[in-house]
Amino acid sequence: MTVHIGAKLGDIAETVLLPGDPYRAKWAAETFLENVKLVNEVRGMLGFTGMWKGNRVTIHGSGMGMPSLSIYVNELIKDYDAKTLIRIGSCGGMQDKVAVRDVILATATTTLSTPSRGIFKELQFAPTCDWDLLHNAFHAAEAKGVPTHVGGIYSADVFYDERPDLNEQMTRHGILGVEMEAAELYTLAARYNRRALAVLTVSDHLLTGEALPSEDRERSFGDMVEIALEAAFT
Ligand code: HPA
Repeated sequence: MTVHIGAKLGDIAETVLLPGDPYRAKWAAETFLENVKLVNEVRGMLGFTGMWKGNRVTIHGSGMGMPSLSIYVNELIKDYDAKTLIRIGSCGGMQDKVAVRDVILATATTTLSTPSRGIFKELQFAPTCDWDLLHNAFHAAEAKGVPTHVGGIYSADVFYDERPDLNEQMTRHGILGVEMEAAELYTLAARYNRRALAVLTVSDHLLTGEALPSEDRERSFGDMVEIALEAAFT
């Protein structure tokens, strides 16, 4: 047990999928895994461990925003020795070529700050994904026929941004989408020599205002879970 995770040592698999929403973790575990066991429910942040095609995997909520994800990923890595961590979540599209429902695989993350900012001081650290996971995820998405974009994303600190000029500058510099967690995931993976990737569905679009209807969200989320599982175990 850790401060925020009630799982016993050994209850967490080496591969962890991280949706922001704990109820998405429950849905994904019940839909895609066999022999599912609830391993955490501290503060309602649900985590499940089960089997996928003979491979042991944990699906655990991260919460929203980098401070929340940082707590869970620190403990998953340092206390439970998680080795492969894949965020599955949503993002806002920031380019015309990116459509609602498309998948974005984040190579690198741009931020104003992460919970790790203090240790870098004036250094602009560039958090990046694991190449093997990216490669595997791209081919899994292609095989499923899911339109997929590979490139940089923006990990924001606030959803209700009072500085919309920041989003404009991100679009101008080719950033594909905005979410709120991946930069800290990639930073922690780099620090502890783990594999990390963010697989994101475009749930809304900052340029067009379009949003994914709620009935489509489950299917898009399911595609992401399968892409992440294929990426981890290929
Ligand atoms: N901003 C930040 N995070 C998000 C968004 C957004 O527009 N959409 C989904 N996650």
